[in-house]
Amino acid sequence: MKKFTLLTAATAIFMTFCTMAGTPSVNANNGEQNYTKEDIVNLQNFLLARETPDLSDKDYDLNNDGRWDVFDLCLMKHEFLESSDFPEDTGKTLVAYYSATGTTERIADDIAEEMNADIFVITPAEEYTSADLSWTNPESRVVAEHNDPERHTELVTMDVPDWESYDNVFIGYPIWWQEASWVVDDFVKNNDFTGKNVIPFCTSSSSPLGESGTKLAEMAGTGNWLEGMRFRSSSSVNDVAEWVQSLDLTKHEPKNSVLVAYFTPAENDGVDAISSATVKNYQGTEMGAAQVLANMIAEQTGGELFSIKTEAEYPLEYNELADYAKNEQDNGILPELTSQISNLEKYDIVIVVFPVWWYTMPQAVYSFFDAYDFSGKTIVPATTHAGSYLSGSPSTIAELEPNANVLSNGFTVAASNVENAKEDVAEWVKEMGFETEFSNSMIF
Ligand SMILES: Cc1cc2nc3c(=O)[nH]c(=O)nc-3n(C[C@H](O)[C@H](O)[C@H](O)COP(=O)(O)O)c2cc1C
Repeated sequence: MKKFTLLTAATAIFMTFCTMAGTPSVNANNGEQNYTKEDIVNLQNFLLARETPDLSDKDYDLNNDGRWDVFDLCLMKHEFLESSDFPEDTGKTLVAYYSATGTTERIADDIAEEMNADIFVITPAEEYTSADLSWTNPESRVVAEHNDPERHTELVTMDVPDWESYDNVFIGYPIWWQEASWVVDDFVKNNDFTGKNVIPFCTSSSSPLGESGTKLAEMAGTGNWLEGMRFRSSSSVNDVAEWVQSLDLTKHEPKNSVLVAYFTPAENDGVDAISSATVKNYQGTEMGAAQVLANMIAEQTGGELFSIKTEAEYPLEYNELADYAKNEQDNGILPELTSQISNLEKYDIVIVVFPVWWYTMPQAVYSFFDAYDFSGKTIVPATTHAGSYLSGSPSTIAELEPNANVLSNGFTVAASNVENAKEDVAEWVKEMGFETEFSNSMIF
């Protein structure tokens, strides 16, 4: 696959004119030099009469014709490509973009040329006219859409032919009101980027990339999103080429998909406001200890939270709750569940978080395992306790879910100390390898 292009004919002619009257020292090239990206940039800048470091000892006369010119630059790029420090195969690439007035389109074309990529133009079903785009006119279509939180631009199609075959997807858009133009939203939401590198890029008059890439990554929910880049209308082919060459487009295996299911009586007490000595304040929100732990785990893994909710209403006063739980347990009551996991197939790992009650799991967690078949998935318990640690829950769960892979090294913390568990949770998540594409260890 071609990763670099020769400079365009026009640039080449220009550069030939720039051929050095003042080539510093024209060392003969012995063909054994290993050129780096820095050499390429140096020579490029030199040919464009830009500032460079001292190049007097450089051996940039690759064709030994007594001067540095655009032909040396081409040869240097070629040698660099051949050298071992450049990834051999970055896979197949797609450049998908929306451009209202052509600026993003030009950058997209440059990226596609550089990457030898295919192009997909994200096209609104109803194109934006220049009147529609008048963002300073309060009556215009873009202003009306910008003010509408439910806005949504219908696209001609979101289906890219042969989508599965792409390893890298660049997504380009103009910045509208400091954010990605919403025209790309449906494309991002409706395609599955699992196993692909996704690289956002934008053009704008003055605004930076900002959080536009991160927000699209959240919208997509899949893919290995790299840090993006903002270009201006004056950005050159070389600016684009330099950026593209700096990207790490090695293959990233899709990471785990994690569900963090938790049970806490504080969300099942039958009242809206919660007040109890066992309720914690975590990041400004009142919640039960198990919910604090679930939140920490979700933050560290990038997993999705799911609250196991019951028809039963639990008292929050400690002694009353203890009696209630004992009665439920002694009588083998399985409380009815009122919440439901919507898309169980998509999760590989299910981390189940709960408080230990009477040396075992709350009956609501038994109901949870009764309700779902976790065959083929990895299940890990995480508990808050008052002295019982995991309380044998891994083997209990293994009995309830014989076809799941239940891990014995779950996480456990004293309920009284849960607020301070963040670092331990982070270490545990790392040790267990539970990071996902959206975990804290990601690029953004
Ligand atoms: C509706 C609208 C909103 C815009 N908002 C911004 C903005 O917030 N910041 C900025 O720098 N440029 C803004 N611009 C300018 C565009 O981002 C810029 O011209 C861009 O390069 C156009 O890309 P395109 O030609 O591919 O559509 C806006 C343009 C439009 C039409």
